[in-house]
Order: sequence, then structure tokens, then C-alpha cells
Amino acid sequence: MSVKDSDTRSCCFCDPIIERRTLLVCGLALTLPSLDTLPARADAPDPRAVRPQPGDLLVFTSGDRREQIIRPDDLTIGAPPTLAFPMDPASRSVRDGSRINMIVLIRVDSNEIAEADRGRAADGIVAFSAICTHYGCPVTGLDQTAKNLACKCHGSIFDPRNNAEVVGGPAPRRLAALPLKLEKDELKVAGGFSGAVGQQR
Ligand code: FES
Repeated sequence: MSVKDSDTRSCCFCDPIIERRTLLVCGLALTLPSLDTLPARADAPDPRAVRPQPGDLLVFTSGDRREQIIRPDDLTIGAPPTLAFPMDPASRSVRDGSRINMIVLIRVDSNEIAEADRGRAADGIVAFSAICTHYGCPVTGLDQTAKNLACKCHGSIFDPRNNAEVVGGPAPRRLAALPLKLEKDELKVAGGFSGAVGQQR
């Protein structure tokens, strides 16, 4: 039951929808829960759908290692990209409640990353929203050069060395970047998405 449900009652003397405080004034013998035992508000944000936060760890989205932490050694240059969800390091809650939180990670040669974008990379690993800016498919592949990110739905190609600039296909704009940092051999989110995520029509 939501707070709204548990915290309001109908009363013949009062407005049909009244607050708990008003009930006490009316003297009705209703047993109301203590405020500190009330469940979380129904309109409180779902922590699993909260966007990536600075300090979040990154975990695999699927497979044998689903929800396990991704470490730098899990990513090698030339390998296909890895899909990830952020995870709150304190609660260990994976923020997989919204597909908008899906992240694509890829490791490239640090020297090939555009100078302006190197601050967002962690030892050659770069992260972007995995949601294609064309029609919102997840960006899961590599192109024929094995250097660029490719969306398999309609063939959009993004250059991870140049802030996911569109270099092929119908996508209207680059993928939103997600800054990373390395702390004690752990890959962490260093900030929010650089712009709008996914399809914007
Ligand atoms: S949804 Fe990615 S290219 Fe169309």
C-alpha cells in the first residue's frame, strides 16, 4: 500500500480525501501506522531507475557474469563492446530499472582517443549510452573495421575514439558519453551522461 493510500481516509465531516492529521482532529478511532514505519512514497524514484551516478560501479547486463563487476582487464582492444548497467556501490543495487541506463563499454588505444575526450576515458576504456539515437536499439556490435561501434538494427556506426560521432548509417546524432575513472582497479562512473540519451523525436 502506498503512503498516499495508507495516509488518507474518508470522513463524513471532512473532505472525502483528508490527511492523517485531519483524522486526529476528527477523533476517529482509526489505527494509523507510525510515520517512521510507513512504506516509501509511491512516487519516490525507483533506485533501480536512477541514472548513473558518480562513483557507481559497472556490472555485466547478461550471461554467466550477469551483475558481476566489470574490471579493466575484462575489456581488451579489438574485442566486441560490453554492455553494462551501473550499480550503487553502497546498496549494491543494480540500476537496471530503465533501459536508458544501459551503457556500452569499449577499450581502444588511448593514443587514438581525441584529445578533448581523453578526460572521460579510463586507461583507454570509453563508455557511452548503449541506446541508439536512431530508433533506440542497443548498440552491441563492431563494424567491419572492428574499431567502431555498430548498431545492428539499421547499421548506424559510431566512432568511440571521437566521442561516438556518427560515421555511418541513419543515426541523427552521436551517443551520449559517460565519463569513467579508475579507482583501485575498479572501473567507476565519473559523472552523468553528456547529453540526451537515445532517440529524441
Ligand atoms: S536503431 Fe540503431 S540504426 Fe536504427
